[in-house]
Amino acid sequence: MAEIETDVLIIGTGPAGSATAALLSSYGIANMAINRYGWLASTPRAHITNQRTMEVLRDLGQDVEAEAYMHAAHQDLMGENVFCESLAGEEIGRMKSWGNHPLSKAEHLLSSPTMMNDLPQTFMEPILFSTACKRGTQARMSTEYLNHVQDAEGVTTTCRDRLSGREFTVRSKYLVGADGGNSLVAQNENLAIEGKMGVGGSMNILFRADLSKYVAHRPSVLYWVMQPGADVGGIGMGLVRMVRPWNEWLIVWGYDINEPAPVVDEAMATQVARQLVGDPELEIDLISANTWTVNNAYAPRMHNGRVFIMGDAAHRHPPSNGLGSNTSIQDSFNLAWKLAAVLNGQAAPVLLDSYTAERAPVAKQIVTRANQSISEFGPIFETLGMTGSVGLEEIRSSVAARCDSTPEAEKQRAAIREAIAFKKYEFDAHGVEMNQRYKSDAVVTDGQMEPAFELDAELHYQPTTWPGARLPHVWVFDHGTGEKLSTLDLCGKGAFTLLTGIGGEAWEEAAEDVAAEFGLQLTVRLIGPRRKYADHTGDWARASEVADSGCILVRPDHHVCWRAEEMASDPKGELRRVLSRIFGRS
Ligand code: FDA
Repeated sequence: MAEIETDVLIIGTGPAGSATAALLSSYGIANMAINRYGWLASTPRAHITNQRTMEVLRDLGQDVEAEAYMHAAHQDLMGENVFCESLAGEEIGRMKSWGNHPLSKAEHLLSSPTMMNDLPQTFMEPILFSTACKRGTQARMSTEYLNHVQDAEGVTTTCRDRLSGREFTVRSKYLVGADGGNSLVAQNENLAIEGKMGVGGSMNILFRADLSKYVAHRPSVLYWVMQPGADVGGIGMGLVRMVRPWNEWLIVWGYDINEPAPVVDEAMATQVARQLVGDPELEIDLISANTWTVNNAYAPRMHNGRVFIMGDAAHRHPPSNGLGSNTSIQDSFNLAWKLAAVLNGQAAPVLLDSYTAERAPVAKQIVTRANQSISEFGPIFETLGMTGSVGLEEIRSSVAARCDSTPEAEKQRAAIREAIAFKKYEFDAHGVEMNQRYKSDAVVTDGQMEPAFELDAELHYQPTTWPGARLPHVWVFDHGTGEKLSTLDLCGKGAFTLLTGIGGEAWEEAAEDVAAEFGLQLTVRLIGPRRKYADHTGDWARASEVADSGCILVRPDHHVCWRAEEMASDPKGELRRVLSRIFGRS
């Protein structure tokens, strides 16, 4: 007999585990989260926080969202992505990134009620974790997952209390492995990981130093440094990354994966920092240093029966494009409501199969993109003659050659501009962040064709209410108070939502009856003049892609799961058909 019982046991309190715990607790599901360490992330690994992740935080509550902004560096401080010889040395070029180019900024503003920002993991984790604990998660630190056994009714997990050494068991209905890139849960459950681990070697050097004089006039999170060895291992080029403007920094520098990992002591850390900053006298206050490897692998199956993996446990890739923590939190948004629906008896367990169907393609996509972004530094090196092991003097003469008044130099300048601009696929890839469209049994398209992407799907988000896509954001207005609300604000919070307009009133009655049958919370929002929500700008009419009397059914994770072009002859029958399909009750 297990000593502790809970509905969902979560292994790990990183971004994936803490977000899952926070969402489950918000949905009223009993859960327990364990972490083998005494506290949360001690180094600020993840930082770029995209709009889709901020929408998850906003769904958790505007207080949660506000706390994130309070600790984050604002989007305006993120944008001058600089390529240079060193921070003190010559600048080779730069590109506006992370939604800071005016055209890209417009797309960001039109796409979401939230803003991209730079929130180090050391701030993100405590926000998610404390939200979880405040709302009911039972958390145990210094507690290590050892193994588990699942049967028809649940999972029995053995853990070790690392303070006493005592082992104990937890009985749960479901187990979530959010235990990072060396996931023991994935290994014990035989969830295969496809691809390659350890394709590159990298070191992180975290330190304090006031570097304002090199950076404040060109604010950015990332300063890329081209020096001998900058193309070996690592994440494509030497990197000086802002952690806190402008006095806390993280250097990422590569090493040859075919050699043993270097021991990064204080002397080496100081030497690398001086070299990349370009100041031989620089004094740093070293906080920590460690090595890590670049991976290129993902799990084609993210669950097996009652056991799920998410976050780095399922997708293992370099930090390029800043997708790791973001995708981890988005995995949790996908799974949490499904677990709640099954545990509450609304859905059959088959609903949980849609987790792999929907998230494994995303895992594959982001692992591929992040690794491709590393190789896309290649053309920049080539334009500067920095391929192979060239020395500092050769690099300097190649950098100097671009200043000549010759046709060759002009060609070189054009090539540099083009190679840097191409890096938008890493530093301004809004489509990669926002275009996730799901295809699974938890979405009913009724044969409607997926709209083709009109622009580059990696660079540009394309809104649509086609079932499977995230509900488009537009601002609507509360008829009574005039308050401005995002269409996303009308949805989520663990509930299904039906959006309709004038002439769609019959959906309301139908939704009430069907919700009662399914024991489900199904909120109806009527948008139109003199209705609860006004579409003064006409933006919703343009975005909805259905007639006013039609409807859009939205899942708790903001994804559209069905839409009706216009009022149906039997609205109740239609809703019953669709929800039965999604909940596996037909
Ligand atoms: P994570 O590894 O964070 O957490 C795992 C948890 O499981 C921890 O709490 C750990 O203690 C626990 N655990 C493990 N084994 C256990 C066991 N046996 N028993 C109990 N507990 C156990 N991402 C991003 O979105 N934007 C960005 O800008 C960056 N930048 C970035 C820079 C650098 C230099 C790096 C190295 C990484 C990034 N990332 C990133 C990636 C990001 O850090 C990473 O994807 C997330 O931390 C993954 O979150 P998880 O919760 O999945 O795992």
